[in-house]
Amino acid sequence: MRLFVAVLPPAEALEGLADAVEPVRAMPGAERLRWTALEGWHLTLAFLGEVAPERVPGLETALAGVARARPVHRLRIAGSGSFGDTVLWAGVEGRTRELRGLAEAVTDAVTGELPGRADPYAFHPHLTLARAGSSRGHRRAVQRVAAAELEGLTAALAPYRGPEWEAGELHLMRSDLAGGFAHYASLRSWALADWGRADQEWGGQGRDGQGRADRGRERADG
Ligand code: 2AM
Repeated sequence: MRLFVAVLPPAEALEGLADAVEPVRAMPGAERLRWTALEGWHLTLAFLGEVAPERVPGLETALAGVARARPVHRLRIAGSGSFGDTVLWAGVEGRTRELRGLAEAVTDAVTGELPGRADPYAFHPHLTLARAGSSRGHRRAVQRVAAAELEGLTAALAPYRGPEWEAGELHLMRSDLAGGFAHYASLRSWALADWGRADQEWGGQGRDGQGRADRGRERADG
């Protein structure tokens, strides 16, 4: 199965972004892009590719260890950018150092379980909003959006600053490609370490980091 590890922003954050994206989708050139659906929006920490089912338990143990050792942190969806002339994305602001540290720890853990899988240098936090060009398995050839138009769409979204939220869970995600669309599902999740709250709620005894585990959410793209 095709797996990746991600942080999932809460519904309020995704809805705020959706409101900001709506007028951008009405701009010239937007109709030639393939737009991702809110249900599929996520922040990828590491992409693993095809993983044999027998490797999953070891991977899960490694990810649980990462979650226990990395703190919850506050983020907001903000700004925009593009990868070349093919991908339009929204960025994140806030405690991005913690997010990067989490991505690096995930990459190290994954590499320990699946040597050579995750690219340690590729982390660029983003939520993919739209893609130009045709997708694998997609029947309809989609026209490439002109680079200048993609630049215009990116600039229109650049001032966006969404509400703050807490990145509190690590998700092991499955990606199924069917009919040219990716469907994402959270297989398992682990709560990140919440030392501050642990001091208040647990008399300083801490938590086991598994408090909100296994609260899977169905995700869909397109
Ligand atoms: P993207 O949104 O920029 O396409 C599931 O495919 C997630 O893993 C997506 O967030 C995707 O990023 C990310 N990803 C990273 N590397 C990938 C790769 N080589 N192939 C497919 N997805 C990849």
